[in-house]
Amino acid sequence: MGNNKLFRKKSIDQILLDSQKGGSGLARVLGVRDLVSLGIAAIVGAGIFSTIGLASYNGGPAISLLFLFVAFACVFTALSYAQFASAVPVSGSAYTYAYVSFGELFAWIIGWALVLEYAVSNMVVAISWSQYFVSMLEGFGILVPKWLTMAPAYAFDAHAKMLEVGIANLEGIDRIALQAYETAPRIFDLPIIFDLPAGLVTVFVTWLVYIGIKESRRASNFMVLVKIGVILAVIFGGMFFVKPENWTPFAPNGMEGVLSGVAAVFFAFIGFDSISTTAEESKNPQRDLPRAMIYCLLICAVLYVCITLVLTGMVNYSALNVKDPLAYVFSYVGFDHMAGIVSVTSVIAITSALLVFQLAQPRIWMTMSRDGLLWKKFATIHPKYKTPSFATIITGIVVAVPALFFKMDFFVDLTSVGTFFAFIMVCGGVLYMDHAGLTAKAKFKVPYINGKYIVGLTFIVGLVLVYIYGAPLSGAHDLKLGNALLHNSLLVVFWLVWLALSVLSFKHNFSLLPVIGILINLYLMSELGASNWIIFVIWLLIGLVVYFAYGYKNSKLNTENRA
Ligand code: ALA
Repeated sequence: MGNNKLFRKKSIDQILLDSQKGGSGLARVLGVRDLVSLGIAAIVGAGIFSTIGLASYNGGPAISLLFLFVAFACVFTALSYAQFASAVPVSGSAYTYAYVSFGELFAWIIGWALVLEYAVSNMVVAISWSQYFVSMLEGFGILVPKWLTMAPAYAFDAHAKMLEVGIANLEGIDRIALQAYETAPRIFDLPIIFDLPAGLVTVFVTWLVYIGIKESRRASNFMVLVKIGVILAVIFGGMFFVKPENWTPFAPNGMEGVLSGVAAVFFAFIGFDSISTTAEESKNPQRDLPRAMIYCLLICAVLYVCITLVLTGMVNYSALNVKDPLAYVFSYVGFDHMAGIVSVTSVIAITSALLVFQLAQPRIWMTMSRDGLLWKKFATIHPKYKTPSFATIITGIVVAVPALFFKMDFFVDLTSVGTFFAFIMVCGGVLYMDHAGLTAKAKFKVPYINGKYIVGLTFIVGLVLVYIYGAPLSGAHDLKLGNALLHNSLLVVFWLVWLALSVLSFKHNFSLLPVIGILINLYLMSELGASNWIIFVIWLLIGLVVYFAYGYKNSKLNTENRA
């Protein structure tokens, strides 16, 4: 009985009924073009404006190929999202999909993991915004004290490094961080350092989202145009400064250098799934959602590859370890006006990414609260503004406070781990749905290729290749022994899942594309390194405690049953 409760499911019919009963009354107004625009608003953000810098520094120009590969990997997930969105056309995203396919416990876990995709990724976006904002102000000659512009860890690290290698050997970024350390006011000798602009912009955007969705949509459309504009300007403006010799060596740190960029590159694509939440507002979700997601991925892949080639062509990859690479490369080649324009427009562009996720997070919490899995307060709607007011304020606090104090890289990894997990569950959900015959009403289905033999055969070929060539798939980036062992155990997980999928595909004629989706996502996830998995597992455990303390008892499925 207990087990049944954990895996109690919502039926698709029930979900559709609920959404009509609730009278969401959302107008079906969005066409493919609107959906693509919304997708781009979510996708293009801190990834391409900031984290691409460090990824290129480690991987060199070859990072452009990683962008292509990750985009390709995302296509399988996008198709799975599209099938779900067409079978369960209500907003709620992967959380709702899991509720139908795997039952309540998994739905909760996904909802909990989505906090990483939405709220935690927004911490990155806020920090990225702050970096461009500060560089914009500097362009106007306004100098913000350094201790107000970064996470304390940067300053402490730079100080420690200075003690070790001497001040003369510090690179640009560390010098600035050291300056923050030295000029910060002190309480009991402890330097006070935080990222004020990142906190402030989060408060501002939360306010925007709080006072109404209509206003925010309008602002978002304008910002998408600015965003595409600035990316194209960098590509076409930068093209003339490209020196092809900068592209050699293409992968200076080999495969490992490239793979160390997985989290950052994947981060840049996160968000294409968010348009599936507009299923209730699109004119023809079954036809338009899959198209829009694929178009978004295509457009972004092309833009990202071009940007990477331009950046690594304009300056040597080793100069790209900066926080505002798109503006930096222009000041590097002495084109200061362009650097200024890029900074100003980037500030506007990044705000839109912040807005999209700041809108999405409270709505997911609202859905979960309506299902009884979160406290009722999370579903409170503001009487005047008609927005989920409490959930919005909590999102604001949850994002703003860490953005003040923590390093960006930590959040990038965490977001990527959580999102890979959600993607794997969605691909797995499609297999379940097909198997359980729940796809009858779906007008869009992932194109079916029978995986009966292919999954198992490729598994054997893969094993043989690994046996002959060593472990070509392992990117244990010069890890210490303990970490290397953990990393290898992640790869073992990957192979075991492949084995299990081979057996299941043979038994149930699984559709090949979602299986590929699971495997690619899991492989990339294993590249994120053991420490990120550990933090992720801790996160999930906390989630389980919350679920058993509250959702398990208060779930609507539970209370309705009893009634
Ligand atoms: N893809 C989003 C960004 O890069 C999360 O900001």
